Amino acid sequence: MEIRKPFVAIIGAGQVGATTAQRILEKNIADVVLFDVVEGMPQGKALDLMEAAPLEGHDRRAIGTNDYKDLQGAEIVVVTAGLPRKPGMSREDLLALNAKIVTDVCSNIKRYAPESKILLVTNPLDLMTYLARRVTGFPSKRVFGMAGVLDTARMRFFIADRLGLVPKDVEAVVLGGHGDLMVPVSSRTKAGGRPSKEKIPPGELSKIEQRTRDGGAEIVALLKTGSAYYAPASSVCEMVRCVLRDEHKILPVCAYAQGEYGIKDIYFGVPAELGAGGVERIIEIPLDPEEEKGLRLSAQKVRQGVAELEKLLPS
Ligand code: APR
Repeated sequence: MEIRKPFVAIIGAGQVGATTAQRILEKNIADVVLFDVVEGMPQGKALDLMEAAPLEGHDRRAIGTNDYKDLQGAEIVVVTAGLPRKPGMSREDLLALNAKIVTDVCSNIKRYAPESKILLVTNPLDLMTYLARRVTGFPSKRVFGMAGVLDTARMRFFIADRLGLVPKDVEAVVLGGHGDLMVPVSSRTKAGGRPSKEKIPPGELSKIEQRTRDGGAEIVALLKTGSAYYAPASSVCEMVRCVLRDEHKILPVCAYAQGEYGIKDIYFGVPAELGAGGVERIIEIPLDPEEEKGLRLSAQKVRQGVAELEKLLPS
């Protein structure tokens, strides 16, 4: 089967990777190349997805592969390869194991798809995105990560659920590193067009903020084997569509900060415009002093993580 450009390559055909492939095909966004190191598995999943096409009514194509050569010509490569968390593990606990996998994956992306954009999903997200840039040497705007779209979607759902609203009528912003210190920006949340603060008492709003920070762990604890994948796949799909259609939509993106919010030289969750070139622009929004303080703390934690990561890498 001939894959047509512009296409998306997905590395790691596990829960997040395969669900992302399904969403990209069934929302009619692009053709998909699904890669995994496990023989037969990506081929089987791609075939299964194609057999659903007559029923889902799309004309997209997918192939599965164990050969990195099939990445040639990819517009955007989504990296989901790596281990997910087990109950009780933090995303940082995955660092050494996933750093090895992401290094191998990104060396191959550099070799076979040197013009592509890379969208990281593997955790710990901010550090794996930093690593992807370091390994490929790609311009920073072409390497970015998915976290904020997911964290924001979680917060939007929790607020909508509390108020009995349709989730898409709630706006929220979650910034910072994709970890326990992420910063739900409550001053910017709106429910049904009004500030959430007007509708939800402060104590309850801070519980929603905490549930947002713990959103990933809540699912890990329930699933017991593996981590979330439906909402992560929807989040990736949203970002991929923005890039392929050059939408210039502003989303919370794990992007390379170069002085914005007083933060420099790390990958970190910030609002950014996504378009055909990747991260077209980081946007600075006003924050209240508590939120600013939270962002600084979160940046400090990511910086510590980068130092840990650097110790594992050849200089
Ligand atoms: N190259 C390519 N694929 C690999 C490699 C490698 N070197 N090593 C592992 N994989 C594949 C596995 O074979 C598996 O199919 O990555 C896939 C990971 O899938 P799952 O175990 O189902 O994990 P998933 O839930 O999809 O999460 C993947 O995303 O959200 C993050 O924390 C999560 O880091 C984790 C990643």
